[in-house]
Amino acid sequence: MTTRTLRTLAGVVAIGALALTSCGGARSGGGDDGGDSTGGGGSETFTLKFSHVTTDATPKGKAAIWFEEELEKRTDGRIDVEVFSNSSLYGDKDEMQAIQQNSVQMLAPASAKFTTVAPALQVLDLPFLFDTPEDIPSVAAPDTEVGKAIFANDDLASKNMKVLGLWDSGMKQIHSNNLTQKPADMEGKKYRIQPSDVLKSQIEAWGGSAEAIAFAEVYPALQQGVIDGGENTYSNIESQKMHTVQSNIAESNHGYIGYILVVNTEFFDSLPEDLQQILVETAEEASTYNRDNAVAVNQESKEAIEAEGSTEINVWTDEERQAFKDVVVPEIYEQYRDVIGDEIIDELLANQE
Ligand code: SIN
Repeated sequence: MTTRTLRTLAGVVAIGALALTSCGGARSGGGDDGGDSTGGGGSETFTLKFSHVTTDATPKGKAAIWFEEELEKRTDGRIDVEVFSNSSLYGDKDEMQAIQQNSVQMLAPASAKFTTVAPALQVLDLPFLFDTPEDIPSVAAPDTEVGKAIFANDDLASKNMKVLGLWDSGMKQIHSNNLTQKPADMEGKKYRIQPSDVLKSQIEAWGGSAEAIAFAEVYPALQQGVIDGGENTYSNIESQKMHTVQSNIAESNHGYIGYILVVNTEFFDSLPEDLQQILVETAEEASTYNRDNAVAVNQESKEAIEAEGSTEINVWTDEERQAFKDVVVPEIYEQYRDVIGDEIIDELLANQE
């Protein structure tokens, strides 16, 4: 049920505040101010549904819980945040539609999930964009060309999404049932990718074939042998138990999974100004919390996989990494120049020199 529908219902029927706030994006009036939209401690309350696809133990899951607790505290409960993790409310297939319709108010999908609605965000899927997670803040700062593509993205704005932050999952590793040390090791094998053209081109350039599969369906696809492997962060691999059906992980750090934290603009605009400000500030601090923790969370997942002992991890040498990089940089960057934008590609290629 949308906010607009709820407001209409509220005008017709004397429906209770409790019933209203039980629906996502709903507002419930209280006291005499009855929906003060200029701020200043109004008593109206709002429910914000935040849906995502990873578990609570991942960098995204932890930051979502931190955001929920902080926002409720800082607004004295005037915004009630409901976090739905692990694809329990919406998954990869329906979350984009849900946020555009305000059926859910916040998401933090990986950049690749925006390919059809905001294709330029595939910039974050480019292979070897960052060498280490320490490079992320400088390459994707809001005043860089990459940052502008994220934080001032017209496609997102036109689809009812306001960007609140960039969160990290971390650096991707290649998981499979064979040792992956050179591109030829990928020949004839099928890898699960997120739905991004850039990622498809990357896997194909290395000699593999690629199939886009929703995150929640990766484990069964691996288990049933529909795919041979995939690419993901240690925290996603471990929390979805992908490693339990894969004999090898190449610690490749060849790519990045970053999340675009978005709020539905209809919901955001319906908030009084003081709540808008607190929401924006809390989201910014949640981004810092996420980035401060992501590396450690991935390291813990790597150690958990090692401790289980059934998956061999081999770390790419500099030479191995360079051999994979030589195949895709600058070729894939040039291939997607028109989609991503000349200024961004020029800036990134200049950084690579
Ligand atoms: C996520 O981290 O949100 C999911 C990424 C994926 O689909 O692999």
